[in-house]
Amino acid sequence: MRRPIIAANWKMHMTLGEGTELAQGIVKGCRDMDDVDIVLAPPFTALSTVRKEIHDTPIALCAQNLYWEEKGAFTGEVSAAMLKDVGCDYAIVGHSERRQLFGEIDRSANKKVLAALTHDLIPILCVGETDAERDRGVTYVVVDRQVKEALKDVAATQLDRIVIAYEPIWAIGTGRTATPAQAEEVHQSIRGQLAKLFDTDAAETVRLLYGGSVKPDNVDDLMAEADIDGALVGGASLKPDSFNRICGFERRT
Ligand code: 13P
Repeated sequence: MRRPIIAANWKMHMTLGEGTELAQGIVKGCRDMDDVDIVLAPPFTALSTVRKEIHDTPIALCAQNLYWEEKGAFTGEVSAAMLKDVGCDYAIVGHSERRQLFGEIDRSANKKVLAALTHDLIPILCVGETDAERDRGVTYVVVDRQVKEALKDVAATQLDRIVIAYEPIWAIGTGRTATPAQAEEVHQSIRGQLAKLFDTDAAETVRLLYGGSVKPDNVDDLMAEADIDGALVGGASLKPDSFNRICGFERRT
């Protein structure tokens, strides 16, 4: 059984005051949920503040990005060791907004995955196709390539320290969620690909999250799918009520 993860990607939202209030609301609603890993990814500026709020709870801290070099003249970048130092256990890698707006490519996602693993951070690797790619029928080609390239030089024994988020770009921030069946199909394909690249047992350990307009009213059906092990939530993570409801998704056995 894979333990579910619900992760909040706050993106470029939340001042220190707003982030404190949101974290407090999430701690209040979620601190006793012991059957799900809850992960918060505030902007870099709020990591330290949010860490104080979640300090004695099981809620984990996550960065939205990292740079692969150890240290040096890389103005504006933040290393994996710095993130570990501020209290992060996770880091998002290769989010589609980084790929589309900041020119990130599979090769950089790969370097970031490897740097995260070296510093004992769990990478949440994001993959997903655009609307045009889905229309052209190349969803699996694109996702297969993204997974394969980003996991180059990763060992099968490291797979249980990797989380993959399938985030179809057409569903991000659009209110257009993939149906549970559409998401499950791609998740199954990712797991199948992991089995081919590594081995079946290792592939079974990887937690696969779905992201793209996850809301309180669609999370239960998404989470009921066999290969959907969690959610990466954007907009609906910015209010305690909706995020807490998502963390409290209906457990169907
Ligand atoms: P939304 O939930 O706002 O669609 O964002 C999804 C996302 O990009 C999470 O990383």
